[in-house]
Amino acid sequence: MEKVQQVKNDGLMAIEKCENLEQLNQVRIDYLSKKGHVQGLMALMKDLSKEEKPAFGQEVNDCKQALTKALDAKMEVLQKDALKAKLEKEKIDITVAGYKPNIGTVHPLMMIQQELEDLFVGMGYSVAEGPEMELDLYNFERANLPKDHPARDMQDTFYITPNTLLRTHTTAIQMRVLEQAKGQLPIKLICPGKVYRRDDDDATHSHQFMQMEGLVVGENITLTDLKGTLRFFAKKMFGEDREIRFRPSYFPFTEPSVEVDVSCHMCGGKGCNVCKQTGWIEILGAGMVHPNVLEMSGFDSSKCSGFAFGIGLERVAMLKYGIDDIRNFYTNDVRFLKNFDRFD
Ligand code: DAH
Repeated sequence: MEKVQQVKNDGLMAIEKCENLEQLNQVRIDYLSKKGHVQGLMALMKDLSKEEKPAFGQEVNDCKQALTKALDAKMEVLQKDALKAKLEKEKIDITVAGYKPNIGTVHPLMMIQQELEDLFVGMGYSVAEGPEMELDLYNFERANLPKDHPARDMQDTFYITPNTLLRTHTTAIQMRVLEQAKGQLPIKLICPGKVYRRDDDDATHSHQFMQMEGLVVGENITLTDLKGTLRFFAKKMFGEDREIRFRPSYFPFTEPSVEVDVSCHMCGGKGCNVCKQTGWIEILGAGMVHPNVLEMSGFDSSKCSGFAFGIGLERVAMLKYGIDDIRNFYTNDVRFLKNFDRFD
């Protein structure tokens, strides 16, 4: 009988000490399995007298029941604890900041191109494109730059054959558009695209860059129309307070030709580093389409006139976003490019 008490007490104590379900299961095996301690007590029966057996059997049964009850109760407690711990561990803190997926951003030059397209399409312009590998005919001759014209040196050219080259300006598209129009008026177009020059790359020069050509041809188109258009462009791109001024210049394909300055958007015209203390920033070349250009493309220059302008997209982007090295646009450093996602 003492032995039974001993097994019971030891068992209850072992159950009490269990800290997890694995340990508890081991205790159940140790005490209640076929080879366990309780079954071991049964083996003692054979040494008892007939009279003693029932009482002993009863005692062993009580012990078994007590242990079973204690095991079940403990199991319930431990299961609850385990569930609680699991829930605690898997708890999701919805206030923690999430990871931002690594997605690409629109290239700053594309942003400028799209902004300019929106602006001019809003004024009724269409968008035209042309080949980057161009004929000398459209890049130079039709632009009033015959072979051996000294002004060809203004643009150092990548020639592919004597008659094909990488276009040096989007003015080449202008010449294609004029030819395709077959004398039909009016024409109102912008032509964005890449252009190429044999320049040594530095902070302000790149052998490949982007331009956007503008062309309007119709009856009675005047320099005033050009000025109004560019004034609108300057205000939209650089702020409502901007003003523009024309300076006389020379391009073979326009007469008169002008260089266009915008009042400095950094200092408002007072003078600063960006405008080199002048209050003005040179932004593009423009002019009235040269009568020779109109005639060569099949227009009667006594019946129509037009204006044209060529905008450098890098220059606009550099001024607008305060970028000091043109090479940034082409080295594809994502740390640079990522800065522009906030402008989307
Ligand atoms: N093609 C000129 C250049 O690349 C820019 C330009 C000047 C375009 C005057 C024009 C213009 O259409 O009228 O330097």
